[in-house]
Amino acid sequence: MTKIAIWCRHDGDNIIGIGPNIPWHISSDFKRFRRITEGENIVCGQTTYESFPNRTLPNRKIYVLTFDENYVVSDPQNHFVVNDARVLKDFAEPLYICGGASIYKMFMAKQAPEIIVDSCFHGELNPKLKGAPVDIGECIAKMQKDYRQISPNYDEDNITTTIWIKKGEFVPQEVLKHITLAIINH
Ligand SMILES: NC(=O)c1ccc[n+]([C@@H]2O[C@H](COP(=O)([O-])OP(=O)(O)OC[C@H]3O[C@@H](n4cnc5c(N)ncnc54)[C@H](OP(=O)(O)O)[C@@H]3O)[C@@H](O)[C@H]2O)c1
Repeated sequence: MTKIAIWCRHDGDNIIGIGPNIPWHISSDFKRFRRITEGENIVCGQTTYESFPNRTLPNRKIYVLTFDENYVVSDPQNHFVVNDARVLKDFAEPLYICGGASIYKMFMAKQAPEIIVDSCFHGELNPKLKGAPVDIGECIAKMQKDYRQISPNYDEDNITTTIWIKKGEFVPQEVLKHITLAIINH
């Protein structure tokens, strides 16, 4: 079924994190992410999972990628450990790929999402955060080469969001409609 990568990156350098943190705090960005992913299945890496408050996101099934076979999730009824990403290849429902960088890069290389929701933050990074910058430059280069933008630019609070689809792919209209309505209905 359809895979959708969803990220918010910093304009110019394509940074999505500093250490374990997202280096901006824009509440409309979190709200847009929630509207798009609520009620859906999401997949993320163990580092990103650990960064969610109380290691959870309400009303979502979370597939946590980790190589640790003994990893324990916070909510075993709704969160699932995945040690081998190949089991997600033929996932039956829309699957939202929610980071971090290692997960975006792996999916873009091996299980290319049909849809990308690309949000781009034009403001300043939080200068107080310590840690290594994490960027997805290689994913953006691939997006610009293999995908085409099919939406207008949606601007809100210094963030521009656009929808891209993989060239030559079939994309279910109901998934696109859900994402578009979630972006514009704020
Ligand atoms: N701005 C955004 O949209 C956004 C979204 C999400 C995250 N982020 C940011 O991204 C940063 C985290 O990115 P990250 O790359 O460091 O970490 P990550 O992708 O969240 O998680 C990395 C971990 O995922 C597991 N993993 C990676 N590839 C795997 C595979 N093929 N199979 C199984 N498990 C795999 C490993 O866990 P184990 O070590 O347990 O084996 C690895 O240590 C943070 O700064 C976060 O805030 C930003």
